[in-house]
Order: sequence, then structure tokens, then C-alpha cells
Amino acid sequence: MQFMTSAEIRQAFLEYFREQGHTIVGSSSLIPGNDPTLLFTNAGMVQFKDVFLGTDKRDYTRATTSQRCVRAGGKHNDLENVGYTARHHTFFEMLGNFSFGDYFKTEAIRFAWTFLTEVLQLPAERLWVTVHHSDDEAEKIWKEEIGVDPERFSKLDEDNFWSMGDTGPCGPCTEIFFDHGPDVAGGPPGSPDEDGDRYIEIWNIVFMQYNRSADGTTALLPKPSVDTGMGLERVAAVLQNVHSNYEIDLFRELLAAAAAAVGCPNQQQKSLRVIADHIRSSCFLITDGVVPSNEGRGYVLRRIVRRAIRHGNKLGAKGAFFHKLVAAMAEVMGDAYPELRTQQAQIEKILLKEEQQFARTLDNGMSILEQAIASLTTNELPGETVFRLYDTYGFPVDLTADVAREHDLTLDMDGFESAMQAQRQRARAAGQFSVDYNEQLQLEGETCFNGYQALEDRGRVMLLLRDGESVTQLAAGDRGVVVLENTAFYAESGGQVGDAGVLRWDRGCSLLQIVAKKVSIIYIMVK
Ligand code: SER
Repeated sequence: MQFMTSAEIRQAFLEYFREQGHTIVGSSSLIPGNDPTLLFTNAGMVQFKDVFLGTDKRDYTRATTSQRCVRAGGKHNDLENVGYTARHHTFFEMLGNFSFGDYFKTEAIRFAWTFLTEVLQLPAERLWVTVHHSDDEAEKIWKEEIGVDPERFSKLDEDNFWSMGDTGPCGPCTEIFFDHGPDVAGGPPGSPDEDGDRYIEIWNIVFMQYNRSADGTTALLPKPSVDTGMGLERVAAVLQNVHSNYEIDLFRELLAAAAAAVGCPNQQQKSLRVIADHIRSSCFLITDGVVPSNEGRGYVLRRIVRRAIRHGNKLGAKGAFFHKLVAAMAEVMGDAYPELRTQQAQIEKILLKEEQQFARTLDNGMSILEQAIASLTTNELPGETVFRLYDTYGFPVDLTADVAREHDLTLDMDGFESAMQAQRQRARAAGQFSVDYNEQLQLEGETCFNGYQALEDRGRVMLLLRDGESVTQLAAGDRGVVVLENTAFYAESGGQVGDAGVLRWDRGCSLLQIVAKKVSIIYIMVK
């Protein structure tokens, strides 16, 4: 095997498939443009979903891409594996070739095998193959046309059926694994210890044949198609002769930068790998328009950033460090993704703000958590503690779970849910206001939120409420609600305390606390 850099592998892949009649298509955004059912682009096929379904037509029937992917939420979520295995990431690049009703099983298998064994020159005896248990046709192609050794071939069940989400295109698949050798722990695919890092799945070929609907039924796609995905980082590990993705060229500088930023001389630390992985997903999510927040995609980003900050803190980082790694990202990946360079300052600013915000509660939250762990008599952290950390200290549940796992503890999630439910009821019962802001108040329009760019803003008052009634003024000492045309205040939600501040007007000022956010309307409570 010749040594190849990640950039060379990416290039060789796209070039090989271009020679086989594929159109090279650019990576799409991490935010799926055509799919509200999906949190993030989690595979190369996402941008082609409608082409598989037959509702979108392109002027090509064969395509190849290098797609940026995030698997940190929804059906495909590798967040909790990061740091624990040599091969999982929240962000990675997937090289893929696609057939939209053009070629099918024979060519797809042949292309993959030829690319691996002839272009990349991987030894056939280190490649293992699996197919879906029902797929006799693929088995025949592998055994009779390719000549794969039956010793390294197996038929599996659910591992060999791929779906992008709960709905959408899906089908049986055939996977190719690389054997990293006996000095790495782990068994072959399908064996009880297959989760080790010895046999690594490097390529998945999906025979797209069905569309699964929300009610669970499947219908045939208009034309049998092919969707393949090869993990760039995993193949780079093979060709760079290392056993961990975190030792490849793309990670080397990031790990060094992370070690320098947290002041940790030992680059083998698991926490550094977490930080290096998380700066990649954070940077790419931000360049694709996500900002940390308490909901949806923004909350996934917040969880990733806070998890990285906690790992830095664990290694003894003094002050904000995470945003300092954006420069290394721009250096390492800026050639392939120039937006990392053009948006560097903006990404740094957003990450720094999140670091500063979390710094206010991280230390206190960690000591609460450590005390709780020290006083445990079982191996389960009480739901009340998990909830308190979430609600008061801004600890996403998976961050608490990550710390718990380091102590071989689990979380009492039922207790957490009950505590969450109890708090909702208390809030309703306390009813300082006679309106339920989340359920009853219906307002047209939306407040324009610019709190990521500014801490102050000027704007018009659109509505004043006292006791749920619209009023034209609030007297001194009144408690009421102000709905603003635009605001820099971020609203309380998802367990975070809302911003507090001052509202000034021509003849006075008042203290404010943001109490609720409904869709895109931000309510401000005047104290
Ligand atoms: N969609 C398949 C996967 O993600 C092949 O690309 O594994």
C-alpha cells in the first residue's frame, strides 16, 4: 500500500469515478435543504434523496461526491462514541458514488473492489465483505465474479440494511471491512466482539430500492439505484498505516493545536481527541449557518461545544481555549473548504461567546456533579441531579452522561423526566401571569433576534400585556410583558436561564427578565 494523504485519496476517488462516467457534484450543506425530517446531512445520499424518489431529475444518472457529514443527532448519532473508539466522529467526510436508475449491483460492487484493490492497492486478503441475509444476488457477485474468499464473507441481518432516517429511501447493503491486523482488538463483522477497532467498515454500498413512509410501510422506488459511502478518515488511516482515525494527517495538527491551547503536553489524551473531533463539527456547523442555541440544530451544536469545553477543563485548560482551534482548522482544511478561512473570525467569535457563557456555570456545575458522584451508593446518578445540572448549570444531559461514563455510572433518565415534568407543572401553577405563554398566547409576526451580533438594540414596543390583557402602559411596580419588534435578549428555554437586562425609554427604564420564547416571538417580562 502506498502512503496517501487525505487530499490525495479524496482526489483519487473523485477522479476514478469521473473516469467511470460520474459527474463530480459538490458537497451540500450540513443543513438539508430539502428535508425537514432530518437534523443534519448524515450521508452523501441526502442531497440526492428526491432524485432517488423520482421527484427530482438531474441531467446525469451517475454522480460522485465528497460530502461533509454530521452524525450527532437523530437516527445516526455517534456523539457518545467519540473519544471511546478509533473510528467515530461527529463530523466526517464521506466519499460516495451514486447511480440513479443507471447501474446496479454488479457494477457498484465491481467499482468499489477495483478502486480499493487496484487504485488504492489494498491487499484483497485484508478485505472482509458482508451482505444482507436475503441478498443471494450480491452474494453470487462477490463469490463468483469478484472471487472474494468465502472465509472473509458473511451474511448479516439489520447491519446490512441502510436507511437515512425513519422515513425515506432505504435498501439492503453490502459492506467492505479492512482488517487492521491481530495487534488490534476486535472480531470480524458479525462476531460478538465486532465492536473493537480491528475490522473497520470502510465502504457501504446500498442498493436503494424502497421508500419508507411515516406509517412504516415501504414502497418500491421508481428505479433500483445505488448509494455508496466510504469514510475518508477511515481509509486515510489504512493508507497512512495507522490504526486510529485520530492519527491521520487531518487530525495531527488539530491535536497539537488542542494540546497547546489547553496546555496539555500529552497528545495521547482521550479528551484531546474529543476536542479535535468537536472543533471540526463546530466549525462546519457554524459555516453552514448553525449557532449555539437551546433548540434543534443549535442545541446539538451547543452540546458539542460544551462537551469539548468540559474535556478541555478536565485537562486543566485555563480560560477560553476552544475558539483558538479555528485557526488550525482553517490551516488544515481551508484548501478543501475555503469558507473556513473566509469565516474564521466569525466562527471564533461565536465559539468564544459560547465559551464565556458556559464558563459562568461550568465550575459550579462540575463541583455539584463531583459531590453527587462522591456520595453515591449505587451506580446510578439521580435524575434530580441530572435535572439540576441541566436546568441551573446549562449541562446538556449527554455532557453529564459523558462524565458519568468516566466513573462507570449511568443516569436515572426516568427521574430526570419526572423532575422536568414537575418543573413544568410548578411553573404553570405558580402562574405569576394569567396567560400561559407557551400554549395560549397567539401572536402574529415575529421578533427579530440579533443577540448573536449585539448586546444592545433599539426597537419599538409592539405589545404590552398586564394580567394577560393588552394595555397601553405599565405603571411603576407593575409586572407585565413587553413584546418587542427586535431584541438582543435571548429567551429562556431548554433549561437555560434567559438573559436579564435593562429596557430604557424616553422617560425611564426598567429591569427585564426574559421568561419565555414561543416560535420566534420573544417575550420580555418587566419586573
Ligand atoms: N448511505 C450509506 C451510508 O451512510 C452509504 O453511503 O452508509
